[in-house]
Amino acid sequence: MILVTGGAGFIGANFVIDWLAQSDEPVLNLDKLTYAGNLDNLRVLEGDARHLFVRGDIGDATLLSRLLTEHRPRAVVNFAAESHVDRSIHGPGAFIETNIVATWRLLDAVRAYLATLDAAERAAFRFLHVSTDEVYGSLEASDAPFAETNPYQPNSPYSASKAASDHLVRAWHHTFGVPVLTTNCSNNYGPLQFPEKLIPLVIHNALAGKPLPIYGDGSNVRDWLYVGDHCAAIRRVLAAGRVGETYNIGGRNEMSNLQVVHTVCDLLDRHAPRAQGGSYREQIVFVTDRPGHDRRYAINADKIAAELGWQPAETFGSGIEKTVRWYLDHADWVANVTSGAYREWTERQYGAGA
Ligand code: NAD
Ligand code: DAU
Repeated sequence: MILVTGGAGFIGANFVIDWLAQSDEPVLNLDKLTYAGNLDNLRVLEGDARHLFVRGDIGDATLLSRLLTEHRPRAVVNFAAESHVDRSIHGPGAFIETNIVATWRLLDAVRAYLATLDAAERAAFRFLHVSTDEVYGSLEASDAPFAETNPYQPNSPYSASKAASDHLVRAWHHTFGVPVLTTNCSNNYGPLQFPEKLIPLVIHNALAGKPLPIYGDGSNVRDWLYVGDHCAAIRRVLAAGRVGETYNIGGRNEMSNLQVVHTVCDLLDRHAPRAQGGSYREQIVFVTDRPGHDRRYAINADKIAAELGWQPAETFGSGIEKTVRWYLDHADWVANVTSGAYREWTERQYGAGA
């Protein structure tokens, strides 16, 4: 069994679904179900005995100790985090709590659990920490892409909290011998992404006839990675990554935000033309820039390619086509998360404070 944390969120849910499609090894899925966690994401696994969902916080030491002792996982894959940069600007507290303090508690629980394993189990155990390219800071147009050796220069409360968590993971390896792996990846896109992030927000707003807000002049650059490629990379690192190492994961798809939004509009024009005619591009509006907005992210993924033979399978063209089609085919999922209906359900199911 493996323990996946944050497995009801965007990447975590894709990972759990992909994992169980490729392996019969069960998954214990621990997720707090914040606004970003959604059991609807895991509906395809309903009735699947290989998937055990537990609602809980990675910062809850008692719960962690009980789950680890009871289920004896051979690995932990840690996706649980507050993940949205804009929210970290409005309210950094939750980012400090989950990404730093709760990650420390999780590491400590794993450290205590390792002490209960025999030598062979300990040698085989892995703690894989999922992190971000944002810890490396911001690049100028002429700079080389981020390599694993780049210094950490986080600029937002989100990236600073993720950088802190990466440092804790590193320290728990060097000081306490926890067998860790860290992955730093670029912007994911694909099915099940909460419509606060650029691509699903643009799809949702376009279809709802709302403005498509572009921060600044739209020339900020991101590297876009299809979520299925990210899941494959994590499986590969978990299987064969060298303990204590970090691996950068990227999609080889550097694009400006304006290019991304134009591509999404053009696909929607083809697959869901506007009733009143014209292009969805007409809905684009340029709005006040994000404070401290990082200029450019780009990933050098040579290490994972050379050591572990991983390459992204999707181009941006193929991945974005799949993604737009998925959102068009899952209007019910979008309506559910944007109406807050799933939050009401969570509160009914789990009680107030959910
Ligand atoms: P997400 O916000 O969609 O999901 C996060 C999940 O973690 C949610 O299900 C939430 O309920 C859960 N969670 C939050 N706090 C928790 C806690 N204290 N205990 C247990 N569960 C908790 O995020 P995502 O986009 O799926 O990102 C997953 C991970 O990948 C994060 O660590 C993020 O930093 C990292 N990452 C994301 C991207 C991206 O483009 N989305 C890129 C690089 C790295
Ligand atoms: O690089 C990896 C990171 O990618 C992850 O670590 C984060 O968890 C993930 O949220 C993402 O961060 P970004 O800030 O790059 O993603 P976001 O979708 O919020 O924004 C992408 C770009 O689009 C960014 O330059 C800001 C811009 N943007 C975003 C929104 C929501 C807009 O122009 N308008 C918008 O409304």
